[in-house]
Amino acid sequence: MGESMSSGSQTPPSLPDKSTPSPILTQPTDTERRHTWSLTHPLWGPALRQEDYVNREAYLTTVPLAKDGGLSQWILTDPSLPPNERPILSACETLRKRAIRARPDGFVEDGIAHGIGAVFTDPQYRGRGYANRMMRDLGPRLRSWQGESKRRNSNPDEVFFSVLYSDIGKSFYAKAGWATYESSHFSFPPVAGGVSGISPSDEYAASKARPIGYHELAELCAVDEGLLRERIARRAKEEERVAVALLPDLDQLLWHLMREDYMTKHIFGRTPTVRGAVYGEVGKRIWAVWTRAYYGGLEKPEGNTLHLLRVVVEDEGMDEKKIGEGFGEVVRIAQSEAEEWRLQEVHMWNPTGLLRRVVEGCGVEWTFVERERESIASLMWYGEGEEKGVEWVANEKFGWC
Ligand SMILES: CC(C)(COP(=O)(O)OP(=O)(O)OC[C@H]1O[C@@H](n2cnc3c(N)ncnc32)[C@H](O)[C@@H]1OP(=O)(O)O)[C@@H](O)C(=O)NCCC(=O)NCCS
Repeated sequence: MGESMSSGSQTPPSLPDKSTPSPILTQPTDTERRHTWSLTHPLWGPALRQEDYVNREAYLTTVPLAKDGGLSQWILTDPSLPPNERPILSACETLRKRAIRARPDGFVEDGIAHGIGAVFTDPQYRGRGYANRMMRDLGPRLRSWQGESKRRNSNPDEVFFSVLYSDIGKSFYAKAGWATYESSHFSFPPVAGGVSGISPSDEYAASKARPIGYHELAELCAVDEGLLRERIARRAKEEERVAVALLPDLDQLLWHLMREDYMTKHIFGRTPTVRGAVYGEVGKRIWAVWTRAYYGGLEKPEGNTLHLLRVVVEDEGMDEKKIGEGFGEVVRIAQSEAEEWRLQEVHMWNPTGLLRRVVEGCGVEWTFVERERESIASLMWYGEGEEKGVEWVANEKFGWC
């Protein structure tokens, strides 16, 4: 690791002024990215020892979505100094994701989007405009980032938009060009009911919903993708404006689940088998896929949350009472899993109008929260002339990174 990066107590190297064009946005070396991870550990990894956190970040470069160049790391730095000796003025990561857009006439096209995460400025460089500068450079840069590359079984990849989820309120990223979108959730409390130590099939035998395991995800994702394509086309026509969505595909879900496995293995010494729950017969199913997120570990459990990554109602034309009943049964399994895995809450982001109507009668305790500061969903659209703004469909937790 370069000396210039090793200690906050040294005099920082002379830094380019934020208003000059000199800082550049580029990729870090392996040493530089490990250095950044070691700095972010107290913020984002207190549930793990520093070494395990840094190893997790390295591991997460190899999992679905991130692997094969899906993950890009970015630093704002001084171009006049050599790699590993230059200051890391600010840093972030982007993940390439499959996306769709529907035109107002209902025509659906495939492309990609970039999800931005881990925006971080070393405390010694804060308050000098570096993160702002990085984001202002990054927004337009992503418009063409990996835009020409072709992935297997995929259409040419035009970059439709980029998204991020701000934990620092609504204005910082809005100033750099990302529009804020609905950022709400249902919150359900954990409920004791599951009996740990016995297999999930026994545990939930009395439930009308049944647990979803890893092996069922591929089929559910394929069905979900087909339904979402129809729904986004309808939505664009109804709203007479462009509608976009990240695709809740298998890679997208596996990225969350592998992160979850790493965490639960380190915290509990085992990984969960229940990845979601499904209610009803094929064609009329209601299901949710979820992940367990531990921020402070078991010592500081506030904020440890079971997130419903994606909730699907296969036939939205069904009787709403029936939908409510099914949703309630699915949520009950989530509540039981939250209790077993020591999570404080169950969250479901941006429920549809349909689920907001039926939750009342579904027999579970719930609250609805509009977030003002944490996880503010934000989107930068790269299309031309969209005066009405774009509609973001399926803006759920699976898109987070
Ligand atoms: C947020 C962060 C990246 C800003 O980096 P920076 O290089 O100091 O940012 P800049 O100097 O470009 O911009 C500072 C602005 O960010 C705002 N800001 C910084 N931290 C903030 C916070 N926690 N909440 C709200 N606004 C914040 C400042 O108020 C300031 O606003 P202003 O321009 O209106 O005065 C840095 O404080 C950091 O790394 N924080 C810890 C990690 C984090 O929270 N990352 C963001 C995750 S979404």
